[in-house]
Amino acid sequence: MLPVSRGIPKIQNITNSTRHFFTKSNTMAPLTKTFKLNTGAEIPAVGLGTWQSPPGQVEKAVEVALRAGYRHIDTAYAYGNEKEVGQGIKASGVPREKIWLTTKLDNDWHKHVAEAIDTSLKNLDTPYVDLYLMHWPASLDKQNPKQVYKDWDFVDTWREMQKLLDTGKVKNIGVSNFGVKNMEKLLSAESTKIVPAVNQIELHPGNPSPNLVKYCTSKGIHCSGYSPLGSSDSPLYSLDSLAKIAGSKGKTVQQVLLQWGVQKGWSVLPKSVTEERIKANIDLDGWSLTDEEIAQIDEVHKTHSFKVCGDSWLPVKIFFGPGDSD
Ligand SMILES: NC(=O)c1ccc[n+]([C@@H]2O[C@H](COP(=O)([O-])OP(=O)(O)OC[C@H]3O[C@@H](n4cnc5c(N)ncnc54)[C@H](OP(=O)(O)O)[C@@H]3O)[C@@H](O)[C@H]2O)c1
Repeated sequence: MLPVSRGIPKIQNITNSTRHFFTKSNTMAPLTKTFKLNTGAEIPAVGLGTWQSPPGQVEKAVEVALRAGYRHIDTAYAYGNEKEVGQGIKASGVPREKIWLTTKLDNDWHKHVAEAIDTSLKNLDTPYVDLYLMHWPASLDKQNPKQVYKDWDFVDTWREMQKLLDTGKVKNIGVSNFGVKNMEKLLSAESTKIVPAVNQIELHPGNPSPNLVKYCTSKGIHCSGYSPLGSSDSPLYSLDSLAKIAGSKGKTVQQVLLQWGVQKGWSVLPKSVTEERIKANIDLDGWSLTDEEIAQIDEVHKTHSFKVCGDSWLPVKIFFGPGDSD
């Protein structure tokens, strides 16, 4: 169950070619930057997003990304493409153990966690995932997904997800789309023994959520930034301030957006099914933004505030505004 995208992807020309080099096996050196999670695991700083990657294109996108040096792929049961993602991993020739693979528990599977992970693993054709996320804090009734269960919520779901760690089917568990209020509820529950390793949330200059990021960091929870480019038809691409920074560094606006996220301390999950863009989006090694440039990008939300994924499509409120998800 997913919100509907705001628009149709906009075509942008990539003028900079990636500086990664091809090795003899026709794959590029992987991006080296990682973030350490509270489990000790290291999550690669850039992952390929796959939401809305169309069938017939996502397998190739995953293959291209892994050959271009990505070592992190983000999918979800709800994206309907786990099978193709698994095929892309195989086609790339990159060994499974070198790849960080994330998938997510869908909203109407909250009462069926054990079955849900088995289904995802079968789709992906892999014995384990590196990160299993609760996609939304919304336990939707499987018989009637327009309603939430009355006798079950995300605390119950997390209790079940914790059990997966002993099965070897998941290496790390986390959540997604949790604001401070829901996170407090989760962390203070008696059944919660494990602090989520990750909270995957919307993060881009139009929605930088400093309070939420600060809160998660204070609890040892790594934030992963989704829609880091502002998603399809991004209004960020036409901003003069970003274009100026990009121009002065010989980079694209998209690379600047991703570098900003990584330097702010979160992993970023740019989605693309376009080979040139996939390659350009991982060209973040060997250059950086200055403190002044970061401060300038931090200001963008004051004039261009927007959110890609709200909660109006769900029968339960998820985001509670200032102090919670900002
Ligand atoms: N946990 C959640 O609830 C949640 C919600 C939303 C997203 N996510 C994850 O985060 C990922 C990224 O978010 P997103 O898909 O919303 O948006 P995004 O990565 O911010 O933007 C994707 C859009 O940007 C275009 N694009 C990518 N690289 C480009 C470049 N270098 N130049 C110009 N255009 C470029 C893509 O077009 P082409 O593909 O046509 O190249 C696509 O239209 C998702 O795919 C998903 O894995 C998670």
